[in-house]
Amino acid sequence: MKGTVLYEVRDGVALLTVDNPPVNPLSDGVRAGLYEGLAKAEADSSVVGVVLTGNGRAFIAGADISEFGGSGEGHGLAEVFKKLEYCSKPVVAAINGLALGGGLETALCCNYRIASNQAFVGLPEVNLGLLPGAGGTQRLPRLVGPAEALKIMLSGAHVPAKKALSLGIVDSLSDNVVEDSITFIKEKAANSESHPLVRDLNDKVIEARGNENILVEAQAMTAKSRKGQFAPGQIIKCVEAAINLDDFDEGLKKETDYFIECLVHPQREAMIHIFFGERAASKVSDVPKDTPIMDIKKAGIIGSGTMGGGIAMCFANAGIPVHIIDQDADNLKRGISVIEKNYEFMVNRGRITTEQKDFVFGLVTSSLDYNDVHDCDIVIEAVYENLELKTKIFKSLDEAVKPGAILASNTSGLDIDSIANSTSRPELVVGTHFFSPANIMKLLEVVRGDQTSNEALATVMSVSKKLKKAAVVSLNAPGFIGNRMFFGYTAQANMLLLEGALPHQVDQAMESFGLNMGPFRTMDLIGLDLGWRARKLGGMASPLHAKIGDELCEQDRFGQKNQKGYYNYSEGSRAPNPAPENESIYERISSENGFTRREISDEEIVDRCMLALINEGADILSEGVAQRAADIDVVYINGYGFPIWRGGPMHHANAMGLDVVLEKLAKYKDLTGSDVFAASSLLIELAEKGGKLTDAPSKDDRRERLSFEKSSVANNF
Ligand SMILES: NC(=O)c1ccc[n+]([C@@H]2O[C@H](COP(=O)([O-])OP(=O)(O)OC[C@H]3O[C@@H](n4cnc5c(N)ncnc54)[C@H](O)[C@@H]3O)[C@@H](O)[C@H]2O)c1
Repeated sequence: MKGTVLYEVRDGVALLTVDNPPVNPLSDGVRAGLYEGLAKAEADSSVVGVVLTGNGRAFIAGADISEFGGSGEGHGLAEVFKKLEYCSKPVVAAINGLALGGGLETALCCNYRIASNQAFVGLPEVNLGLLPGAGGTQRLPRLVGPAEALKIMLSGAHVPAKKALSLGIVDSLSDNVVEDSITFIKEKAANSESHPLVRDLNDKVIEARGNENILVEAQAMTAKSRKGQFAPGQIIKCVEAAINLDDFDEGLKKETDYFIECLVHPQREAMIHIFFGERAASKVSDVPKDTPIMDIKKAGIIGSGTMGGGIAMCFANAGIPVHIIDQDADNLKRGISVIEKNYEFMVNRGRITTEQKDFVFGLVTSSLDYNDVHDCDIVIEAVYENLELKTKIFKSLDEAVKPGAILASNTSGLDIDSIANSTSRPELVVGTHFFSPANIMKLLEVVRGDQTSNEALATVMSVSKKLKKAAVVSLNAPGFIGNRMFFGYTAQANMLLLEGALPHQVDQAMESFGLNMGPFRTMDLIGLDLGWRARKLGGMASPLHAKIGDELCEQDRFGQKNQKGYYNYSEGSRAPNPAPENESIYERISSENGFTRREISDEEIVDRCMLALINEGADILSEGVAQRAADIDVVYINGYGFPIWRGGPMHHANAMGLDVVLEKLAKYKDLTGSDVFAASSLLIELAEKGGKLTDAPSKDDRRERLSFEKSSVANNF
């Protein structure tokens, strides 16, 4: 059995301490320990009350996710909670740290709750496609009112102790939570006959009866922020039951029914896959655990543009001083003022206080001289995407920055090895590919060059945690992981346009599938002119998939930046309006390239765009560019607006079944004659064994780094 509960009697009070490192989940051993500890306290006539707390930094951080789908032996949670709620002696939860999910639900079964000032409480089950299924949906609305309870459960947010006190989730705060709880429960035992139970506090739910607004507002809140997710609706139904049912236990039964529907729903598996995927992604399989990690006390940024400013904010937000260099005084001034405005916006929105803004903004310094980053432990270059310029800058940085410091590039796709070779410390050169806006987007692709040392890699992975990023390692290959897949996906969308679909049809189909933004809206946002200009400069002809986009650029349609691309945009708005004037262009280019435009179904659109992602992802995996299938999913969900509830493109392929994926690939290869649908050898190999992409063998040759030139996609970029 996993975990235990320590039992001792102090001063006539039974102290039950959950001990299941690192965060005290409610594993089978903990449930048994709680049940037995409570029974022992009840049986001991010298004990007047019970204090329940956790060992280490957590009270109880939730259920044991690894037990999901298991046999559920031993004491069930409902049985333990019943014992706790009906304990014959008063119980106080001494919330010493994190009380999340089942942890907060445990505390809600206690008569009283005292929290440490550093504690956080919350019911984040929605992030795993679940709902708080151990009474949380029935008890929290009784304590804080249905509207607040819905906000907490639908956001999944961690509520800091002070706020928990103001909402009434906890009764008081303490700096010495266990000792104070012992004193408190002794007094209560001596002076009170009866002790409150959250299940009996009906005033707030009765008050909400007949007030439809509460539920309607909750639905509106999730329609956008949790688009397509199943669990939020189930949570709202639970709270509706809490409001309308007189009998608390009837509400609990409803909660159990709705919980089971979430548990067996495919979204739950997809979201838990990402939960574990993000944790696994931070581990690099061939970098030993005990690899020394350098201390990053100060960061430098070269380039104060869109990315440089956002990256600087990430460091400042993590409390790490950061110095920004630009070559252009006006650009630097503008860059720093954008950072300040972003912080002011956060203050105005109530996300940070003025003092916090002053502190973080105070960590950002700037100048025009490279020598001013000499004392930084890491310097990240974020200048224009030009290999010659970047290699020149790395040469200068190599001379200016102290020996032993890491030099990183934010390049979206240039060869990290070429950049590294321009320095005398290639082992300390790495790619750190942040996504825009860098202070908001969670994804960080960490590009491992041919000579990048384990220390440099481990250090960047470790600092990315401090920056609160989902970091994924990619080998140095064109487009790394994300942009390589995105390239194939948008190329496929463009082929559909050539064959007869229209941008809004493709976008609607992909958005109904769950994407935040369809491919044509995304291309308009990025700018259609980037590839067109690069091709013009290089004297290259447009590839087939880019023929329409390039023609739009010839007609001065660059996307959102000049308010016309695949769509039209009004001044200051990002909302796409139809552009009927483009249709004659589509028809002409289709016909010039031998296509007879045809009706294309939404099913074909989704299939072809998804297959382009899946097939490329499988190649990325088999080449060892990504370490594991889940890494690819983490990239796509955190960087490209892929719906988390579908678990990422690789998980989606597994859920469809690889045999079905192969059938569809064959069908579209027949239909289009395109090699894009020639099945990846890894897919064939795994499908033959009835396997999944998550079973992809760990290839020994993965450490044989793929050279940029040799990569199968090098010529496409
Ligand atoms: N913008 C994005 O969405 C995005 C996303 C991911 C990665 N990237 C990559 O990030 C990098 C920066 O992109 P950006 O959009 O922030 O560019 P940007 O044009 O907004 O800013 C570049 C800045 O670099 C400065 N600069 C140019 N040469 C310099 C030099 N020699 N020394 C110091 N400063 C110099 C410029 O004055 C400018 O302020 C590029 O490699 C790009 O491919 C961009």
